[in-house]
Amino acid sequence: MSNSTKINNKINSFNKTITVSGDKSLSIRWVLFSSMANGKSKAYNLLLSEDVLAAINAVKKLGINVKLNKKYCSIFGKGPHGYKYKKDIIINAENSGTLGRLIMGILIDTPYKIKIIGDKSLSKRDFNRIAEPLNKFGAKIKLTKKGLPLTIEGNKNLKPIRYLEQKGSAQCKSSIIFAGLKTEGKTHIKAKISRNHTELLCKHLNLPIKVKKTQNYDLIEVSKAKKIKTLNYKIPSDISSAAFFIVLTSLSDNSKLLIKNVNINPSRIGIITILKKMGVSIKFKKKQKYKGEIVADILVNSSKKLKAINCPSKLNSGAIDEFLIIFLVAAKANGTSYFKNIGELNQKESPRLKWGSKILNKIGIKTITTDNSIKIFGKPNLKINKKIIIKDYLKDHRVFMTSVIAALVFGGSW
Ligand code: S3P
Repeated sequence: MSNSTKINNKINSFNKTITVSGDKSLSIRWVLFSSMANGKSKAYNLLLSEDVLAAINAVKKLGINVKLNKKYCSIFGKGPHGYKYKKDIIINAENSGTLGRLIMGILIDTPYKIKIIGDKSLSKRDFNRIAEPLNKFGAKIKLTKKGLPLTIEGNKNLKPIRYLEQKGSAQCKSSIIFAGLKTEGKTHIKAKISRNHTELLCKHLNLPIKVKKTQNYDLIEVSKAKKIKTLNYKIPSDISSAAFFIVLTSLSDNSKLLIKNVNINPSRIGIITILKKMGVSIKFKKKQKYKGEIVADILVNSSKKLKAINCPSKLNSGAIDEFLIIFLVAAKANGTSYFKNIGELNQKESPRLKWGSKILNKIGIKTITTDNSIKIFGKPNLKINKKIIIKDYLKDHRVFMTSVIAALVFGGSW
């Protein structure tokens, strides 16, 4: 991302068939699972973003051979206990919370002390939410002010735990699942519902996991994995990347968009449910199963009339990465939209709830924001005629992309 971007052309319509890049959550998980598999795994359409490259560098540091070319990536795993590395290595998770947090669970049995570091934004984020359950297994994790740098020292005699995960954090749940896969005995997690890619991959790989669904929580039981099968995977496209184009189309006149082969895992499509309730026309085409996930083409049309929403909190976890872009739809909707219990947004790459209201205010939309909620007073005829400067995106690509879409649909000089 360049330090300075200028946008000066509102678009009139958007009519296209597109493919967006591979799913980030699945790409990082593929790298991690493959690094522990017994043999060679291959992935097509792996997202080659900084976060995924950081994951590749991390497993290389742990002694795993990775070959990457333009078409695919191969990882030569050495089994669940096959990492080989020297004392005092440092793993750099860069900007990736998913990598930093998931790899902690995998390193729960490390014989040597490992340091995990990250960039400025990641270092400030909460790693205590992971250290706390992992220390209960018997690991020794030391944090810097609840964040990074941290050191992790494993334990040969890990004890399985029972854990109640109440934040709805898939990173927290997944880290504990990885630790459970390394621990003799049965680990039990009662986890508030969140994206379930880790569980689906475990099932696809026939790993010892059981999941029982209740209304608000998943009851997960994991046991030690003796071997992990290799994983050949064609990563489907990321709904979180598709989200920006979905909103661009729905807010532009005379527009129609088809996005091919997107992962529409039910735990990820909160944005679709929310936008449909607001009056956006979205359809899934060619729906099919892929290795436990569900993929489909997504068809979107311009929306004539958008309604405000009082967003039910049960949709929050499935839309957690998409709220900023959903706020733009609320900006153009008729009436006042209300999103509540979304304090977790301020725990992301940047305080996104604060940034969301800042962008809306800059484009002339009134908001009432608390630490946990936002009310957005929509203007159906919103048009921007002035210069908008957003100085610091805090390296958060979702804040950046939301501003780009705002510029393209509402105009102004950004
Ligand atoms: C992710 C989980 C979510 C999400 C992040 C990716 C994952 O974070 O915001 O972008 O791949 O598990 P939390 O677990 O903190 O909610």
